Amino acid sequence: MKPKNQIIICMGSSCYSRGNRVSLELVKAWLSERNLEAEIGFKGQLCSGLCSKGPVITINDHVYQDVHPANIINILKTALSGSQV
Ligand code: FES
Repeated sequence: MKPKNQIIICMGSSCYSRGNRVSLELVKAWLSERNLEAEIGFKGQLCSGLCSKGPVITINDHVYQDVHPANIINILKTALSGSQV
């Protein structure tokens, strides 16, 4: 069954080297601490051509730009606040 929430993190070299390498670990830890791995899908994607606006993370079809380790947790909370997490 497909999880109802989906987080997709850009693993392209630009986003990865400018913050998503760390954000990836933060998201994994955040999901794990809350036992949300089954409920929220989390996967990587290749460069989607938004490098100049990156690092980017897509949550439930909304593309978040300029995502950094300092703001990723707030973005997760805001993006997923309506979904009982
Ligand atoms: S590397 Fe992420 S959009 Fe290009």
